[in-house]
Amino acid sequence: MPLISQPFSWSDHSFILLRDLIHERIGIYYDTNHLDLLADKLSERLISCALESFLDYYYLLKYDESAQQEWKQVMDLLSVPETFFWREMDQVRAVVDILVPQYFSGSRVHPLRIWSAACATGEEPLTIAIALQEAGWLDRVEIEIYASDGSGRSIEVAKQGLYRSRSFRNLPPALQLKYFHKEGDCWRIQPELHRQIHWKTANLMVESEIKQLAKADIIFCRNVFIYFSESSIKKTLNLFAGLMPNPGYLCVAASESLLKLTNIFKLQEIGGAFIYVKQENLEN
Ligand SMILES: C[S@@+](CC[C@H](N)C(=O)[O-])C[C@H]1O[C@@H](n2cnc3c(N)ncnc32)[C@H](O)[C@@H]1O
Repeated sequence: MPLISQPFSWSDHSFILLRDLIHERIGIYYDTNHLDLLADKLSERLISCALESFLDYYYLLKYDESAQQEWKQVMDLLSVPETFFWREMDQVRAVVDILVPQYFSGSRVHPLRIWSAACATGEEPLTIAIALQEAGWLDRVEIEIYASDGSGRSIEVAKQGLYRSRSFRNLPPALQLKYFHKEGDCWRIQPELHRQIHWKTANLMVESEIKQLAKADIIFCRNVFIYFSESSIKKTLNLFAGLMPNPGYLCVAASESLLKLTNIFKLQEIGGAFIYVKQENLEN
């Protein structure tokens, strides 16, 4: 059932064209049971752009000179930036306790690179930074932390470093007091820690946007594949695998099994956490 009464008709073939165009461009897929939700979200753009139908919007996104700008609006609209500090910590602990010492005990050619690939408003990369700082790594070795999201609006929030109480539902209070200070109704992350992170807007489906980022030794790409189709996930995994060094480690959320989707990444238990490890010279 539609969430609000739809001012635009979405039950014809042109809406499917639009759905498929969005899927191809940003990976997010709305199946037939959720088309009303998509129509609901996009209706406000039709109103803002003074368009009369979803077919007009399809043409705008595909051919208009303003398409580039409009895609940013689509990404912001369809983004679900739900996230919080200290989420699914097993993988972060395994990185801090096992993968970081392993990396720095071997011969290495560059700083360790960690990329939070759909970081929403930044709680995930800041969690990684806090955990690394708590273990004393950030002062001792060279670690670069990159964080990106397809939604420019979320990255702007992340760059401000100011968080509301709902982001702290899982963070131990002692760490909140140690790394944040209260500012009005919000809490500001310690500037030195915030500066450790390189923030970018990048669409996971566009190779040129993630080319540099995906050279990371460790990629966190959590709670985004749940919105992707299988083909979008495979495309993203192929891009990652082609760009990551060996060994390369990929953390996805516990609910996002890749077992049926890839041969390139094999699931391994590392320090009590499940992490996908890139296999050398394999193709999907
Ligand atoms: C639920 S949040 C996940 C945040 C964080 N990784 C976590 O696990 O807490 C999903 C994020 O994926 C982003 N996203 C969706 N499609 C994307 C794409 N094609 N490229 C980059 N980010 C995308 C959304 O903008 C949203 O911020």
